This record gives sequence, C-alpha cells and structure tokens, in this order.
Amino acid sequence: MITNVTEFEAIAKEKLPKMVYDYYASGAEDEWTLKENRNAFSRILFRPRILVDVSKIDLTTTVLGYKISMPIMIAPTGMLKMAHPEGELATARAASAASTIMILSSSSTCSVDEVASTGPGIRFFQLYMLKDRNVVARLVKRVERAGFKAIALTVDRPFLGRREVDIKNRFTLPPHLTFKNFEGLDLGKLDKIDDSGPVSYGPKQFDPDIERSLNWKDVKWLQTITSLPILLKGVLTAEDARLAVEAGAAGIIVSNHGARQLDYVPATISALEEVVKAAQGRVPVFLDGGVRRGTDVFKAMALGASGVFVGRPVVFSLAADGEAGVRKVLEMLHDEFELTMALSGCRSLKEITRDHVVTDWDRP
Ligand code: FNR
Repeated sequence: MITNVTEFEAIAKEKLPKMVYDYYASGAEDEWTLKENRNAFSRILFRPRILVDVSKIDLTTTVLGYKISMPIMIAPTGMLKMAHPEGELATARAASAASTIMILSSSSTCSVDEVASTGPGIRFFQLYMLKDRNVVARLVKRVERAGFKAIALTVDRPFLGRREVDIKNRFTLPPHLTFKNFEGLDLGKLDKIDDSGPVSYGPKQFDPDIERSLNWKDVKWLQTITSLPILLKGVLTAEDARLAVEAGAAGIIVSNHGARQLDYVPATISALEEVVKAAQGRVPVFLDGGVRRGTDVFKAMALGASGVFVGRPVVFSLAADGEAGVRKVLEMLHDEFELTMALSGCRSLKEITRDHVVTDWDRP
C-alpha cells in the first residue's frame, strides 16, 4: 500500500527500462543540487499556532486569474509516453480531475491538440526557444488555438546540463515516439536525427536547435507574437527577478530544472525568499524542485510562493499506474497540505505567514 508520493519511485524503477528510469530520476553532474532540493526543506521547521478553529479549511487559489482547487500544480516534464502509453494525456486528465493546472512540455510526446481533446482543463505550455523563430511563432499559434492559457518560457537551459547517466546509457527517445507539437511545423533539419555523440544526447532531433543565444530581448519578442501571459521558469536570483518583472513577465517560477542543469545552485526553497522580496508582489512567484510532501508546499507558501509545481512524483506515479497514479499523487499532496494547514492553525492560504516557519537562515 502506498502512503506517500515518494513510494511511487520504487515501483516506477521496477517497471521502466533502466535508460528511461535513469533519465527521469537523474540530476546534473555530482547531483549535489538534486539532494539539496530535498535536504533544504528539512532545515525549515514549523511554528504552529494552536486553538484555532480549523473545522473548515480552504485550499483554493487563483493563478493568473484561474481558480484552482489547491496551490499544487504539474510541472512540465518531457516525453511522458516513455513512462506510460497514455503519457501526457493521462497526466492532463488527472490534473483536470483534481481541478489544477498542468504545464505541458515542449518535449511532449502528445500534441497540444491531443491534450486539449481530453476535455476541459486549465493548461499552460512550456516553451523552449528554438533558433528558428518562425517555428516558434507557428508553435505558439498552435498553443493558443488549443486553448492553452499561458506560456512558461524556460530560461535555464541555453545548453543541456550534463546528466552523466544519460551519457553512459546513450539516452535517446525510443524510435516509436516523436515530439508531437512540432509535426507539420516545417522543422527542416529538426526532423533529421543528429547522431553526433554526447553533446547532442537526449532528444537528438530537438536539442541541436535549442536557442543558445536566448536573452531578455527574446522575452520581449515573445510578447509581440502572443497575448498569452508569459511566466519565466528558472529564475534563482533577486537580480533576475527584477529584470523579469521589467521585461513584462506575468509570473516567475523559481526552479533549477529539477537539478538537471547547473549543479551547485541552491535548492529552490533556499532561493525562493530573495526572489519573492525582489518581485515585491508585482508578479506571482511559484516554486518547483523537491516538493514531495504537503509540509513542503506549506513551507513554500510561508516563504511567499503563490503555488508549487511537482515534476518527478508525477512521472513516477504515471509510470506506476497511469492516470490513477497521477490522481493519487495529487490527492495525497492535497490531503497532506490540508493536514499541515490544520495542524499549523491556518484555514486559508492567506493565513499562512512567514511566522509559521523558522528557517536555518533565521537562526543565529
Ligand atoms: C524536467 N523538467 C523540464 N522543464 C522544462 O521546462 N521542460 C521540460 O521539458 C522538462 N523536462 C523534464 C523532464 C524530467 C524527467 C524532469 C525530472 C524534469 C524540469 C521540471 O519542469 C521541474 O522544474 C522539475 O522536475 C521540478 O523538480 P522535481 O519536482 O522533479 O523535484
């Protein structure tokens, strides 16, 4: 019997081919940040308040104007059909059933249209900037037509981080799967498989065209081709948070890409507060990275997040049990978060304050 979200990982490991499990589980280089994303949560403790009537607890919130059931959402993770034949479709259905938001990855193995056809739901699209801006413009139109509500531009991946197990395993997308969002977009050389070795490992058809020159001007450009709100995913410093607001971002996601890019960046929960302070309430700040417990969600909210996204627990539960697995993960995080609120004396998200936690940087 599964009693918490981390237990799905062992089941997924058993079920999946080694190459696939390793791709999902791994982080960059020494995986220091991968461990730290979890460890840092354990250095934040609670200051619970007692004797508050918690017979009614409200977890609902609003993200970019959309009301959802809880501040727990699904982060974009690539190639989910490697985990389960229904891949992103099962994930989208589980998100809708839980009345929460899913961000679909650029590297998805189902298209935005296929995801939209699973039924109503609030979905955002994660974008990797590509060298060919015409392809990006066509892709964004496709995303808009499919009814997606926002774009999360990933800004921490001008180069692919070194995930050494993927290099060892010669990781590649299984031949029966494709990057569905790009079909029919006239990708030119993207369709050709580049087999030139470790630098282009991973989605070989895809990585060579990632835009390495991505910069603040591109954030502005993106706003000229779409009226969808743009979140910047991968901000870790106050300096960049201020620039993000100035560049017109509608929100910030504090993320280190699940520790898959630059190793030895801090845990996201350690970087959150400086970003929140720099944003000064002008845009919402979200967090992903290492969220595995309702207590983690509470800690992020207490440090100023407007919500969190989860990555690997969704992937592993999908591999273990398809849509039912993802539903279970969302339900378990919901229930744990509700319990944490109750035991801390908070009846609504706005009652969660900085005083409900004490961090290692608060202590002398
Ligand atoms: C990711 N992540 C990611 N991010 C993104 O912007 N586009 C993508 O396609 C992917 N793909 C991807 C695949 C896998 C297997 C993982 C584990 C992660 C990063 C993801 O959105 C998120 O930042 C992290 O997964 C959050 O950390 P946790 O919850 O996995 O610890």
